[in-house]
Amino acid sequence: MAPSSSSFLLSLSFISLFPFISSSNSPTTIPLSFLNTNPNQDSYQKLTHLASSSLSRAHHIKNPQDSSISNIPLYPHSYGAYSITLAFGTPPQKIPFIMDTGSSFVWFPCTKKYQCSKCPIPSQKNPTFIPRLSSSAKVLGCLNPKCSWIHSKTSPKSLCHDCETRNGTNCKQVCPPYMILYGSGSTGGIGLVETLDLPNKKIHSFLVGCSLFSSQQPAGIAGFGRGHSSLPRQVGAKKFSYCLVSHKFDDVPKSSSMLVLDTSYVKSKNLSYTPFVKNPIVVGRHALLEYYYVGLTKITVGGQKVNIPYQYLTPNAKGNGGTIVDSGTTFTFLNHGVFEPVMHAFVKQIKGLSRIEKIERFTNLRPCYNVSRHKSVSLPELKLYFKGGLEMALPLGNYFSIVGENDVICLTMVTDSRLDKLSSGPSIILGNFQMQNLFVEFDLENDKFGFRHQVCK
Ligand SMILES: *[C@@H]1O[C@H](CO)[C@@H](O)[C@H](O)[C@H]1NC(C)=O
Ligand SMILES: *[C@@H]1O[C@H](CO)[C@@H](O)[C@H](O)[C@H]1NC(C)=O
Ligand SMILES: *[C@@H]1O[C@H](CO)[C@@H](O)[C@H](O)[C@H]1NC(C)=O
Repeated sequence: MAPSSSSFLLSLSFISLFPFISSSNSPTTIPLSFLNTNPNQDSYQKLTHLASSSLSRAHHIKNPQDSSISNIPLYPHSYGAYSITLAFGTPPQKIPFIMDTGSSFVWFPCTKKYQCSKCPIPSQKNPTFIPRLSSSAKVLGCLNPKCSWIHSKTSPKSLCHDCETRNGTNCKQVCPPYMILYGSGSTGGIGLVETLDLPNKKIHSFLVGCSLFSSQQPAGIAGFGRGHSSLPRQVGAKKFSYCLVSHKFDDVPKSSSMLVLDTSYVKSKNLSYTPFVKNPIVVGRHALLEYYYVGLTKITVGGQKVNIPYQYLTPNAKGNGGTIVDSGTTFTFLNHGVFEPVMHAFVKQIKGLSRIEKIERFTNLRPCYNVSRHKSVSLPELKLYFKGGLEMALPLGNYFSIVGENDVICLTMVTDSRLDKLSSGPSIILGNFQMQNLFVEFDLENDKFGFRHQVCK
């Protein structure tokens, strides 16, 4: 949403009158757009692509690799995500990022030498940040406490060896490079401190990764997780919220979804809340601390309770089980033991439509029905219940998608029995497809998750 010219003038004159005020307390609003890196596929392929990327994402979320150098979990290669454009540097350079609540590091493709292998967008076409064109870019020093954000598992002594021998005075050693590994991709580079230029405020000395190489990454990533280095933590946001405009596969994506970062805590209207659930603390699995766990207690299909074994609903001491909200996942992932009863509840209640196994095999989505020759179909309501009395009735378009020439519908949730055998990490990963046309809020100050129905536009 472009600011109207009058408000733009107003803010300009405001800045020139009060040169020391560079920030305002009002919430910052940033447009969000849906990033599908394969827009030219036909809709069956798109659906298949998004289903398989949701599964790879689930694989990563459930088994994040705590690499030896850095324990920052990252994003595998799920390309059905929402992106935001952020401006860094002086003068500002605009770079697109995937908005990811499942990780906590912010990095961009950096320098003209940036190399991206097996990336959906060729390296040359990736917008990269050029540090030398920014007067505010500084390489992160080794003794800067932010260096330990990216190397938290290494003791400062071994990390900044040169500084130790010089007694820490005038140490010019830079923070060692980061290297982040995940499922089947990676990124690596050096830490910078740079000015993040938000629409109504500037954040100085923001830690951002200048990635020199990556594999399988569609863009830079803005981590919104719980870690120190995440965007909301560095900005000092007390809460953040977004409303995702629907990403109908046949439409050209509209870029009118909005992300709001609020540092002053403006109370939102009409939200229902559920407290965030305490993250499981498990040795060697730091990544679980970055996620936003919510207390899903019950699922109903057509008003009937689905029997879900308790073990899936609550994280245990090993960090297995429980539900997280993840903006970087497209289709909600359910452990096999959750998916099967949910799917059977739909199958039992949907009458008079025939399933098409050919499409199910192809898309990896189940159930799929042929709805040609049906002027209207009625489908059971899907409702999620959370601790504290929050009830979330999902809009139909958030769990059934029409594919093909409007003659097939499929349930847009995924599972993989092989991921159950590992039985690790969260059992339920609520993806962005299920969050369309909902206003959702991550209230960090009061540690709760809120939502209301809203047509996002
Ligand atoms: C560093 O500090 C230690 C004791 O704190 C001192 O013995 C040593 O001489 C110092 N080295 C330098 C190079 O200043
Ligand atoms: C809150 O609810 C009231 C009454 O239902 C409605 O009139 C109002 O528009 C809602 N406000 C928002 C921001 O959704
Ligand atoms: C759906 O059914 C109609 C006939 O009822 C058939 O012509 C069409 O090919 C079917 N669609 C698919 C995708 O199988």
